[in-house]
Amino acid sequence: MSLTIKQVHPVFVGEVTGVDLTTPLSAEVASQIEAGMDEHAVLVFHDQPITDAQQQAFSQNFGELENAKGGNVTKPQDRRLQVGMNDVSNLGKDNKPLPRDSRQRLFNLGNRLWHSDSSFRAIPAKYSLLSARVIPDAGGNTEFADMRAAYDDLDDKTKGELEGLICEHSLVHSRGALGFEVSDEERNVTFKPVLQRLLRVHPASKRKSLYLSSHAGKIHGMPRPEALMLLRELVEHATQPKYVYAHNWRQHDLVVWDNRCTMHRVRSFDETQPRDMRRTTIAGTE
Ligand code: OGA
Ligand code: MN
Repeated sequence: MSLTIKQVHPVFVGEVTGVDLTTPLSAEVASQIEAGMDEHAVLVFHDQPITDAQQQAFSQNFGELENAKGGNVTKPQDRRLQVGMNDVSNLGKDNKPLPRDSRQRLFNLGNRLWHSDSSFRAIPAKYSLLSARVIPDAGGNTEFADMRAAYDDLDDKTKGELEGLICEHSLVHSRGALGFEVSDEERNVTFKPVLQRLLRVHPASKRKSLYLSSHAGKIHGMPRPEALMLLRELVEHATQPKYVYAHNWRQHDLVVWDNRCTMHRVRSFDETQPRDMRRTTIAGTE
């Protein structure tokens, strides 16, 4: 079996065949996948019926699993999955869809805003790996946007103006945009803001990209309305159809994306149906 990658969108996203992710990978295959990520930014693997342990083992080929503390409002005793797995399902501990007014459900609605995972952490995410265990009959696509292609197409004047800008990221900004109420403790401690550059250079491909996310809510040295307007315009620019790939999930798909140069969002679906999606996250660098 040899690994092949076929690009399935004009600017990014590769579909990978010829690899079984449930078994340990050779160093060679792992580095072929990482090279594919450097080029395509998103890789799709079909027909990978993977367990949580196998998903974690596969993920660790690309770095350390992120310490997921503080990134959600789920209490430790309410967790459905073991530590190391991010539960992005619509399910409670009883494996049933969460009730409409569940705080956990309302918090998770934030995943429907364009974002980059963990941009609200001092050490944001490198890769996210999302496995579809159970999918609804319709809806629930995940969309990805290429922040390298979006950057490349900006005019030189705009590129110059963005150079050196620093943004403040916090879950307070993304959840606040939906009117989700946060406590003082959450605002000041759990969701304490961090600073991120608005432009990033990819360490391997050396391509420059916008680093946008719904978690970004302030820009250093810029009046707040002006900052929010600029961020909104950049998100509008960067999520035009020509930069976006919509993934229509099949059960047992596994999709890997590079959070350093893409954004993503999930679309709506019938929440009375289970959608069991499990994510592992690889930590990046500061
Ligand atoms: C995520 C996320 C999208 C989805 O896992 O980081 O945003 O499709 N999920 O559930
Ligand atoms: Mn996400």
